[in-house]
Amino acid sequence: MTAICEIKELRQRAKKRVPRMFYDYADSGAWTESTYHANEAAFGKILLRQRVGVDISERSAATEMLGKAVTMPVALAPVGMAGMQQADGEIKAARAAEAFGVPFTLSTLSICSIEDVAEHTTEPFWFQLYMMRDREFCGQLIDRAKQAGCSALVLTLDLQLLGQRHKDIHNGLGVPPKLGLKSFLQLASRPLWCLKMATTKRRTFGNIVGYAKGVDNLTSLAQWTASQFDQTLSWQDVDWIRQRWGGKLIIKGIMEPDDAKMAVKVGADALVVSNHGGRQLDGAPSSIRALPAIVDAVGQEVEVHFDGGIRSGQDVMKALCLGASATYIGRAYIYGLGAAGEHGVTLALDIIKKELETTMGLCGETKVAQLGTHNLYSD
Ligand code: GLV
Repeated sequence: MTAICEIKELRQRAKKRVPRMFYDYADSGAWTESTYHANEAAFGKILLRQRVGVDISERSAATEMLGKAVTMPVALAPVGMAGMQQADGEIKAARAAEAFGVPFTLSTLSICSIEDVAEHTTEPFWFQLYMMRDREFCGQLIDRAKQAGCSALVLTLDLQLLGQRHKDIHNGLGVPPKLGLKSFLQLASRPLWCLKMATTKRRTFGNIVGYAKGVDNLTSLAQWTASQFDQTLSWQDVDWIRQRWGGKLIIKGIMEPDDAKMAVKVGADALVVSNHGGRQLDGAPSSIRALPAIVDAVGQEVEVHFDGGIRSGQDVMKALCLGASATYIGRAYIYGLGAAGEHGVTLALDIIKKELETTMGLCGETKVAQLGTHNLYSD
């Protein structure tokens, strides 16, 4: 591989290696994609203060997330169908995160199952839960995550219904899926991807097929999944989940201080400021814009994590300066996975860590805990 210096280059490479329908699935936002683009663009408007004359020789991005040491405050976000970016994708990403010393979050809508990822890793990972209308199935998912030794449950609250992504429909990834000649040609133009896929048995939603009643083919699976998102989901249900889970709970999808206060009230250990990577409410502001008010409201009571638009260590630095105690990357690692599998995920993490530690140094900082608004221009 020729040298890869930044996440943008991993993205370009992934685009060449991953069949269009799966590349587009990750690289898309809801409706006009205004929020998707705002997430990234907002970081460009935040300016860092350069400092000199400080001994920065002993610098480290290491810190803790939920009481556990991490080599940098950057977790791998839950991403649906990561195992379609490359064969066995979730296992590869989990292994890369484990070796790197950062948390990996497995999506409910993963290709590799909870049990499968647990079998191929040694460190506990986090499990992301969508509340499904089938409460029995949902309870079983929680129990399975517990059984597999997952160390945190990441409950996503912002997908009670799906923000439409036009590209998925054009690519035949709607409900039911329409996989015709176009899909065949998309797959055929990525022979290496196909070759790897042909050698794995992991090609469907591993947490669902074999567990949910009546789901046995692609159409019934798509219909089941689409019909299962629970529009009645309320804070009372969150309490039910918390009690059934009994471990560390992270609530994801918070954009408003009032909702952040509710997350604290129901006993969350952390919340994630997130607009789902711009994939849900089109027209919502960037996540980074929503962050400071949430930190003001609950930052003393709960860990405030941040997700949305991070493509570099400079972006991580800016989120930390604005009060996040940790961040998540989704697409940034997915591009690495699509470009070069486990090695590509490690590369994405390496790039971001190097950028973060260099940026800290050039701002005259040596520890994550010391970062703050003093590192940013206020205008
Ligand atoms: C699911 O989480 C999605 O955003 O597609």
